[in-house]
Amino acid sequence: MKDKIFTSYKLLNSFDKVERVVSNRQIIPTSFGIGISNQCNHNCIWCIDRELRTANPINIKLKLAFSVIDQLDKFGVKTIIFSGSGEPLCHMDFIEILTKVKSSNLKAGLITNGGFLNKDIANAIMDSCEFIRFSIDAGKEKTYKRVHRSGNPLESILGWIRYFNNEKPDNFVIGTSFLMHKLNHGEVVSASKIFKDAGASYVQVRIEHDKAKKLPLNFSKCRIQNFTGAITADGKVYPCCHMRGNSSLCLGDLNKQSFKDIWLGDRRKEVISKLNIEECPSYCRYAGYNEMLEYLSEERLHCDFL
Ligand SMILES: C[S@@+](CC[C@H](N)C(=O)[O-])C[C@H]1O[C@@H](n2cnc3c(N)ncnc32)[C@H](O)[C@@H]1O
Ligand code: SF4
Ligand code: SF4
Repeated sequence: MKDKIFTSYKLLNSFDKVERVVSNRQIIPTSFGIGISNQCNHNCIWCIDRELRTANPINIKLKLAFSVIDQLDKFGVKTIIFSGSGEPLCHMDFIEILTKVKSSNLKAGLITNGGFLNKDIANAIMDSCEFIRFSIDAGKEKTYKRVHRSGNPLESILGWIRYFNNEKPDNFVIGTSFLMHKLNHGEVVSASKIFKDAGASYVQVRIEHDKAKKLPLNFSKCRIQNFTGAITADGKVYPCCHMRGNSSLCLGDLNKQSFKDIWLGDRRKEVISKLNIEECPSYCRYAGYNEMLEYLSEERLHCDFL
């Protein structure tokens, strides 16, 4: 795939917003991660969301999901990504939620283990989303069972990739991801070939997030939180997916306040002003964006010496 989808350069597509943020002005956020379910049909050996899922194994109420979609749409947010905490397909009303997204201006993507797919859900995804990314992480049945610890055979997930590849509209992208772990790392190359042969356009290879490892981040302030945020199944809003469940960094509760009030309100200003980068994880998925925003925020020495 020629197009780069995992790059911080993406932000340059909305340079007007970048300019506002680096001069400390307010913008309309671009993208939100939404966790519609805290439940999961798998039990991955590395699951970063295990605590959140088991502490509060709920699905978002359909009425709240509809309201969130309406509010983000009206506020001018452009995209939403259905992902954790948990497995989006565990929400029994996922098709209704997708239909609601389709009736809005929002564009959507889905990150899933794919285990609960059926033809109706798959068709609704292709009808309302721009992409699906299957988290697979293995190239052999035995390894898949060991790391995902589920009843779904790997072959059935590969069968769904083939289904999407046969049925999808031209602009729909099928992605896969592979999380490297001591139990599966030897299969990354062969698995990537298997995923691509089934019809995936790309494989996102990552390493397991290590909560214990503390490495300094190469920026002093989180600016990407102006562009994005995370909403959890209980209706809470956070500055990013890594902060889900951290009550001191919760920006507000959509059961009690509108999205607009949360986004423009004093609580958000206070939380962001107190946000201490030293407490952020070294695997912050937005580090590249924050580094770029910091560079643009500072006095730029020798910037015309190329
Ligand atoms: C938490 S899951 C939620 C969506 C869905 N259940 C899935 O697995 O695709 C979202 C992504 O986080 C990744 N993930 C889970 N635990 C992780 C960890 N400890 N380190 C890095 N990525 C992790 C998964 O591999 C998956 O691609
Ligand atoms: S499928 Fe996703 S939410 Fe479920 S256990 Fe695996 S990583 Fe966690
Ligand atoms: S983890 Fe990253 S995105 Fe989240 S608040 Fe910290 S710096 Fe910002």
